[in-house]
Amino acid sequence: MKKKLLSMILATTMVAATLVGCGSGSAETAAPAEEAATEEAAPAEEAAPAEEAATEEAAPAESNGTKVGVSMPTKDLQRWNQDGANMQAELEAAGYEVDLQYASNDVQTQVSQVENMIAGGANVLVIAAIEGSSLGEALDMAKAANIPVIAYDRLLMNSDAVSYYATFDNYMVGTKQGEYIVDALDLDNAEGPFNMEITAGDPGDNNAGYFYNGAMDVLNPYIEAGKLVVVSGQTSFDEVATPTWATETAQSRAENILSSNYADGTQIDVWLCSNDSTALGVENALAANYNGEYPIITGQDCDIENVKNMIAGKQSMSIFKDTRTLASQVVKMVGQILNGETVDVNDTETYDNGTGVIPSYLCEPVFADVNNYKELLIDSGYYAESDLQ
Ligand code: GAL
Repeated sequence: MKKKLLSMILATTMVAATLVGCGSGSAETAAPAEEAATEEAAPAEEAAPAEEAATEEAAPAESNGTKVGVSMPTKDLQRWNQDGANMQAELEAAGYEVDLQYASNDVQTQVSQVENMIAGGANVLVIAAIEGSSLGEALDMAKAANIPVIAYDRLLMNSDAVSYYATFDNYMVGTKQGEYIVDALDLDNAEGPFNMEITAGDPGDNNAGYFYNGAMDVLNPYIEAGKLVVVSGQTSFDEVATPTWATETAQSRAENILSSNYADGTQIDVWLCSNDSTALGVENALAANYNGEYPIITGQDCDIENVKNMIAGKQSMSIFKDTRTLASQVVKMVGQILNGETVDVNDTETYDNGTGVIPSYLCEPVFADVNNYKELLIDSGYYAESDLQ
């Protein structure tokens, strides 16, 4: 089966390359990570006469129907709906044909969808993996078909088929959450100790470790000094992780922690949550199982329900990652790859996916709370005021 699919892919790609002219040729210039790490694609003037003709045919800014496969993990978490919609709108506005698929957080579905995108003649793949190490076979097919792959927001792991990575500065997301807690509790001056619990993200998502480490690198000195006390004793990433970032899973774990450690009236002062879907689970658990003074709660993504909770005083902060910014950056990278141009990256050191450092473009995450959400989210047109009522 795989051989048949592979030969079909190669045949499709050869036909597509003939029709598009430089589709597969320019994809070679986007090529393996080690070449891209130099941030230089082979300059057009070096191309042989035949290739120069091909490059000139591909020169026009519009994409002449080049197809981009966009694979998103799920519609169940709000932000991915915006990521997919923004990407499709921007790519189509740039003249690309877009094959946008959502995999309902099912790994095998995502593998099949990516394989079908390859068989369907995609010239570039943009993938936000459900589980970073699960797409190896499909990525091998992309490499065999000479299709460049951009890892979107979540790094694709243990594959040399990944050309670029576009995301937000994931470690900075965590440090912003940790620093907020230090400031909000005035940990450098207050006597303490303060009681804390931790809810991190999906262990299959490479980002989750960066969020956790960014925050804990800030907070560990205060834990070691006894100023922050994790009453449940659950502090390691594996103990506090939340499979698929599911709100229900975060809520259930928080309910267990509250009933085991806080039912006697012990106060919880702060709950470090890596993102908004898990923070929502913690907030639901607190609403039903805790009557003490309400804790500081962190989050990320400025999901609508969580912004409403910020306005209502049920969440202290979130991190705004404007998916329009990331989508625009990816569209720019797609164009640069397909036109054999130098691809914009601003980090060629941080993200080793197990086969080497993947050249990356990191967008900047922005602190959000009840004091600036209007400017960040409404004035910028990200949400309508009515979305938050
Ligand atoms: C992460 C993403 C975060 C978080 C989570 C759930 O990979 O970077 O924004 O929300 O997925 O979607």
